[in-house]
Amino acid sequence: MTEKAQHLLVGIDLGTSQSAIATSAGVREVVDSYVGWPVDAVARKILKKDVLFGQDAVDNRTMLEVHRPLERGLLKEGSDKDQQAIRELLSHLLDLAGVPEFRKNGGKVRAVLGVPAEALRVNKQHVREAMKGLVDGLIIVSEPFAVAYGLDALLHAMVVDVGAGTTDFCVMKGRYPTEEDQRTLTNAGDWVDEQLYTLLGERHPGMSVSIHTIRDWKEKYSFISHEAGPVTVSVPIGGKPSEIDITEEMKQACESLGPPVAEAMLDLIAGVESEYQEQVRKNIILAGRCSKMPGFGQYLEKAMEQFGGGKVKVVKDPVFVGANGGLVLAQDAPKSDWEKLPS
Ligand SMILES: Nc1ncnc2c1ncn2[C@@H]1O[C@H](COP(=O)(O)OP(=O)(O)OP(=O)(O)O)[C@@H](O)[C@H]1O
Ligand SMILES: [Mg+2]
Repeated sequence: MTEKAQHLLVGIDLGTSQSAIATSAGVREVVDSYVGWPVDAVARKILKKDVLFGQDAVDNRTMLEVHRPLERGLLKEGSDKDQQAIRELLSHLLDLAGVPEFRKNGGKVRAVLGVPAEALRVNKQHVREAMKGLVDGLIIVSEPFAVAYGLDALLHAMVVDVGAGTTDFCVMKGRYPTEEDQRTLTNAGDWVDEQLYTLLGERHPGMSVSIHTIRDWKEKYSFISHEAGPVTVSVPIGGKPSEIDITEEMKQACESLGPPVAEAMLDLIAGVESEYQEQVRKNIILAGRCSKMPGFGQYLEKAMEQFGGGKVKVVKDPVFVGANGGLVLAQDAPKSDWEKLPS
């Protein structure tokens, strides 16, 4: 192994709905943040695995004890299984990227791990524990900061990262962000799913549909203040397959995301020194996969009109932007920034 090949740098984005990894060897992998263990010996015999991840876990959920390790921007720490789930998920991502083989051959691995802003505040020690023995060096940062770093939006910019569990805001002032530069709302994708679920349940009481299907509908048909055609889906009602129009419920659930996000964005801008506010307004970066909702960027631009106007750029690759940012940060980080992790 050459000197250079002995070091592998890794960026990881640990998300509520999806987690991604990007490495200096060019690997890019993403997995839905689900971990599932077979419930009994029958399930294990059928599945032939001790633990399942991502879509595989969701598809086989009736045979599994399924855990989603993050919720509302925080790591669940209630049970041993919750704690195990986070380690399994991180370990799986590193497996996908070939990290264990690399280390077995004597290579050293350094990882920058991006977590929801709130988890960085509350669960940092827990995340660190979960990474023990998996890599040699670690830096833990907030997700929106990793996004800003990867896009080189380091000065007079704001990242609005609308994910599943949280919407994270981060104003970049040319240095590591402090608490006052960041904000977290629990109004995000999961919250929209819950509303859509409730609204549809009220209108069609006999409807039998899972939150996973509701989420699929949202990902296909969502829109914010945007004229969209009628949205119809087929679903069993009282056991009978039925075609229903969900345009109004979809509109109401998705559009409810606009006001709280706009309000927090404007509030954070108002806290920036006045001579820089215009630059920040013109440099809003909309990230997270909810940024794909048609009309979201325009809605936020409209909200800035009465304050002098602004510009919202929607990131091109919301799935990997955080992991890529972590990788760039890993490439730039001086030796002194790395925490050594005992194996
Ligand atoms: N095409 C789409 N249109 C609308 N919403 C979408 C689309 N694709 C994904 N989503 C939603 O985006 C959310 C997931 O976003 P993302 O992957 O950025 O979250 P995360 O990073 O896992 O979560 P968090 O940042 O809260 O920890 C989910 O609610 C998902 O349903
Ligand atoms: Mg995210």
